[in-house]
Amino acid sequence: MKSPLCIGHRGAKGHAPENTLTGFRKALALGVDGVELDVHLVDGRLLVIHDDTLNRTTNGKGTIHGPGFDALRELDAGDGEKIPVLEEVFDLLAGRLVVNIELKGRQTAAPVMAMLREQRAAGRHDDRILVSSFDHDELVAARRHDDQVRIGVLYKKRPADALVTAAKLNAYAVIPSVKIIDDTIVRDAQAAGLKVYVFTVNEPSDIARVIALGVDGLISDYPERAIAARREREA
Ligand code: G3P
Ligand code: MG
Repeated sequence: MKSPLCIGHRGAKGHAPENTLTGFRKALALGVDGVELDVHLVDGRLLVIHDDTLNRTTNGKGTIHGPGFDALRELDAGDGEKIPVLEEVFDLLAGRLVVNIELKGRQTAAPVMAMLREQRAAGRHDDRILVSSFDHDELVAARRHDDQVRIGVLYKKRPADALVTAAKLNAYAVIPSVKIIDDTIVRDAQAAGLKVYVFTVNEPSDIARVIALGVDGLISDYPERAIAARREREA
C-alpha cells in the first residue's frame, strides 16, 4: 500500500493567508511533507502570489505589474504579512521538505532556474524541489535551463497528450485536478514511470478516494486532513 506525500496548497490555505511566510510556517507546524506555492515575475523579482491582480489576497488593487516592486512589498498580504519573494520562502523551507514551485506567470522559468542554480552553487541543492505549471511552454523552458530539476505537468482537463508532454519533458510527475482523476490516469502515468500528484483535494471523501487510487501525493488546503487519512489507512 502506498503512502502519498501530503502537500500544503499555497502554504496551508485553509488555515492561514495563502502564499505567505505565516502560511508556510503553519504548513510546517501541521507536519506536511511539502508545500506548493505560485510565482510571478515582477520587475525582475520572483514574487510568491497566485493571482496577477492584487485585489483578492492583498489590500492593493489592480494588476501586480502596476505599482512596482517596492510598492508591492508595502502591501498587506494577510495578517500583516508582505507578499514574499521566492528567496525568503527558500530561506525558510529549502532542505526541510518538498517545495513545489508553480510557475504561474510567463517568463518565470528562466529566473526560477537561475535561482535554483545559485542554491546549488551555495551547496543548498535539494532534489525534492518540484517545478510545475499549467503553461507547458514554461516547463519546456525550465527543462532547457535545467536538465536535473523535477518537473510536474499540471492539467485540469483530460488532455490526450499529457503523458507525451511528460515524456518529452523527462518529467517527474503529472499533476491532474481532483475533478478528473481516475484509476486510468493513475495507472497509465505510473506505468510510464511518472509520479501522480493531485490537486486540490480538500473534502474528506475525495482525500479517501485519491489515496485508494494509489496517488503518490496530494495537494490540499487542509493538509492535516490528508495526513490523518493516511495515518488511519496505515494503521
Ligand atoms: O499546483 C496545484 C494547484 O495550485 C494548481 O492550481 O490555481 O491553485 O494554482 P492553482
Ligand atoms: Mg498553485
